[in-house]
Amino acid sequence: MSANRASNVVVLGGDGFCGWPTSLRLSRQGFNVTIVDNLVRRKTDVELGTKSLTPISPIDTRLAAWQEVTGQDLCHVDIDIAEDYASLVALLRDLQPQAVVHFGEQRAAPYSMKSPRHKRYTIDNNINATHNLLCGIVETGLDIHVVHLGTMGVYGYGTAGLKIPEGYLPVQVEAEGVRHEMDIIYPPNPGSVYHMTKTLDALMFFYYNKNDQVRITDLHQGIVWGTNTADTLADERLINRFDYEGDYGTVLNRFLMQSVVGHPITVYGTGGQTRAFIHIRDTARCVNLAIDNPPERGERVKIFNQVTETHRVRDLARLVGQLTDAEVRYYTNPRNEALENDLRVENRQFLDLGLAPVTLSEGLLEEVIEVARRYADRCDPAKIIADSTWRADIPVDRVGSQEPNRWQPDTG
Ligand SMILES: NC(=O)c1ccc[n+]([C@@H]2O[C@H](COP(=O)([O-])OP(=O)(O)OC[C@H]3O[C@@H](n4cnc5c(N)ncnc54)[C@H](O)[C@@H]3O)[C@@H](O)[C@H]2O)c1
Repeated sequence: MSANRASNVVVLGGDGFCGWPTSLRLSRQGFNVTIVDNLVRRKTDVELGTKSLTPISPIDTRLAAWQEVTGQDLCHVDIDIAEDYASLVALLRDLQPQAVVHFGEQRAAPYSMKSPRHKRYTIDNNINATHNLLCGIVETGLDIHVVHLGTMGVYGYGTAGLKIPEGYLPVQVEAEGVRHEMDIIYPPNPGSVYHMTKTLDALMFFYYNKNDQVRITDLHQGIVWGTNTADTLADERLINRFDYEGDYGTVLNRFLMQSVVGHPITVYGTGGQTRAFIHIRDTARCVNLAIDNPPERGERVKIFNQVTETHRVRDLARLVGQLTDAEVRYYTNPRNEALENDLRVENRQFLDLGLAPVTLSEGLLEEVIEVARRYADRCDPAKIIADSTWRADIPVDRVGSQEPNRWQPDTG
């Protein structure tokens, strides 16, 4: 393995939906990229009896194709970063990377809510993965920049009544007649066990940054849509994964795929949820920008809102419905969340670093529709409806209705 410390980057979870195109981009930018991935996401497909809509190649085929197309070497090391601390530390010592990009977590909220076993797995996997990385960096004594993928969900999905700042909230407190001003971490408000792991990650970052001066950038990412980047389109064997089923599929990609296979568009509740979005090409760009602009040693955790736009879910459904003539139906919301919320988000830091965002346009929606059309025969319609609910008293709705559904579980 290369020991050119200045340009080594380790990508934890680099075989996944966000990690794969990001690894390719970093490799094309000249970094020596090592992917660390235990391929658990591929095994989860087997557990759920589903598969990526796009036919993803085995990891070795992916790496060989990239070598053939670009002449660049990409390595893969199979380590379970939540379980095998010693191998992770040995790898960090060997590579002495400039940065570790951390995508290596269980990332589906519905999967994290399926059963006690799934809740416990998500906690064990995500918390141990992040802690092993931080503890391992301190053990090696190396000055490695951690770039972590968090989620906008850490802020909660109620109406905040303010533009959500990038991680820190300036507050004024009056105590004993004296006014104090301080920046606090924006109050965490997780909406699922998965989201809870991300808020716990943030606390671990705070601690290791304070105690050991680990340099950390935490990217609070919106919902990713789209499938391919210029790099994943360079060869069929490099194609990115496309999750369409109820657990791992993300909302806009699901709507686009549903419209192609003749399934109604599955809006939850009233569709009044407002969410933040980012295109997969910008995910890779933002991570690249974060690596190029690390915090100084001793600087507090740098937090970016990695989002480019916000949309209300029913508006997205209508847009996709108009583009494709698909029917929009409203289903009992499997999640325990506000029926409607507003969301305004600060995202100046990436714009100031030069990000020119890819925003929702008909052309890009068409591109995803094209991918979905090409592989529509790989879709299993039985997997489209989400059968994971946030509480046992929330029914699974497989039928939906033409009218918005206002049913909510009793929250006392
Ligand atoms: N996809 C989105 O819309 C989205 C939105 C916001 C944040 N994120 C965050 O981005 C990160 C990546 O998301 P994704 O969509 O690429 O997910 P993904 O499931 O496609 O990829 C995660 C990868 O990490 C690997 N992994 C998981 N646990 C591991 C472990 N213990 N050891 C080694 N490898 C492990 C998996 O095998 C998989 O390849 C996640 O942390 C997620 O929370 C994703």
